[in-house]
Amino acid sequence: MDNRPIGLFDSGMGGLSVWQQISRALTSESLIFFGDGVRCPYGSRGKEEVLQFTVEAVERLIAEGCKLIVIACNTATAVAIVYLRANYPQIPFVGLEPAVKPAALSTKTGTVAVLATQRSLEGELFVNTSAKYADKVNIIKAVGKGFVEIVEEGREHSAEADSAVKEVVEPLIAAGADRIVLGCTHYPFLRANIERVIGDRDVKVVDSGEAVSRRVEQLLDYYHLRAAEDNIPTYKFITLGDKLYQERLERRAYGY
Ligand code: DGL
Repeated sequence: MDNRPIGLFDSGMGGLSVWQQISRALTSESLIFFGDGVRCPYGSRGKEEVLQFTVEAVERLIAEGCKLIVIACNTATAVAIVYLRANYPQIPFVGLEPAVKPAALSTKTGTVAVLATQRSLEGELFVNTSAKYADKVNIIKAVGKGFVEIVEEGREHSAEADSAVKEVVEPLIAAGADRIVLGCTHYPFLRANIERVIGDRDVKVVDSGEAVSRRVEQLLDYYHLRAAEDNIPTYKFITLGDKLYQERLERRAYGY
């Protein structure tokens, strides 16, 4: 039994969508969430910068005593996961990847849309995954323009958010996509806006949250890292941002 915390990292608040899944599924595990918050968004930054920021965050989470680290950011995963696994062999890492497989296996129209940041869509990881399905399905890529900023500023419940989402999502449906893969951990916070655009059309939103918490469980078992069943978990939120940002992280995690 190992009661040390699991670490999660994101450029900002998006990774809290993963935090919510993991805290619901693994109720004995303590969690430390690191949300940069100052240098977000990462999606339009250069690879070197994203790698450097991710390494800094991982070093911090290791210093906090984390036993496993979830890179709860598709962009940071795309840039850094290979480096992290090679350079920190003592830590099991779980990365975030757009859930192309379940979407490709379930589409009826044969067209799947993947929404992610520019940096993720250009990453080798995504290019390789989409190549695997390219002969079976048509994959359309789209950047959720402005989505990360809307979530960071807590503006999901606004007409402006609805219209930003509509602008990106409507053309994907018009192009025949019946699966919309959320390839950025900020986007699940805009799920209701996306579903409003879909309306009663037969289009489904696919995210990676559940698959990620299943992967965390598998690795905890594999490395014998599970916390004791009666462990009372603690939750800690750290950021490079100010006290207000830290409080907003906490509030969003708990859903209020
Ligand atoms: N939440 C991040 C992701 O999953 C990135 C958002 C950003 O910083 O651009 O890609």
